[in-house]
Amino acid sequence: MKKIIVYQSKTGFTKKYAEWMAEVLNCMTVPFKKNMKNLNEYDLIIFGGGIMAGKVNGLEQFKANVDLQKQKLFVYATGATSQELTEVIDQFKTNNLTEEEQKNVPFYYFEGGIDYNHMGILSKFFMKMLVNMLKGKKDKTAEEEGMLNALSHSFDHSDKNRIHTMMIQIKELENVYLQNS
Ligand SMILES: Cc1cc2nc3c(=O)[nH]c(=O)nc-3n(C[C@H](O)[C@H](O)[C@H](O)COP(=O)(O)O)c2cc1C
Repeated sequence: MKKIIVYQSKTGFTKKYAEWMAEVLNCMTVPFKKNMKNLNEYDLIIFGGGIMAGKVNGLEQFKANVDLQKQKLFVYATGATSQELTEVIDQFKTNNLTEEEQKNVPFYYFEGGIDYNHMGILSKFFMKMLVNMLKGKKDKTAEEEGMLNALSHSFDHSDKNRIHTMMIQIKELENVYLQNS
């Protein structure tokens, strides 16, 4: 079963997860480019991107490169949202995959972090606006308070152990594939 990991990573969190997965799955990782050629030779494609305002960075453009009738697609997203906020994470899935895709495309979320040192100027500006908006808000919910604390400084909550369940799902799929070929 030929596998590949394609990722879109602005500050390195998604790339780091791609590399951890590649070690386990023994496959290549490549950064996402528009009009990727040769992806049709892969049976299983993993796409990863950072969450930007609720959207998985690059996923919408990437979908055009995959034939879901013939290829298995897995999607993972990294973000600053705590892994414990399952309702928010469920929304990432429904915001980024159509109802039809949700039936066939496994979606995983892995907590990453914030890295102001490697962030582009536009992203920094957006974050500053968000932080100021949260600071100015009266009667903040506990979630907003948590978000304000989290976004005020760089942090790294990425952890190799988070990929465990996804790796098991892929290995099981691979076993079925081997038995049938
Ligand atoms: C402009 C911007 C918007 C973001 N929006 C969200 C968001 O809506 N939810 C979230 O959990 N994290 C958000 N983040 C945090 C990123 O998703 C997080 O840093 C991610 O791990 C980045 O991955 P990357 O470095 O591989 O691109 C945002 C970051 C930036 C810079």
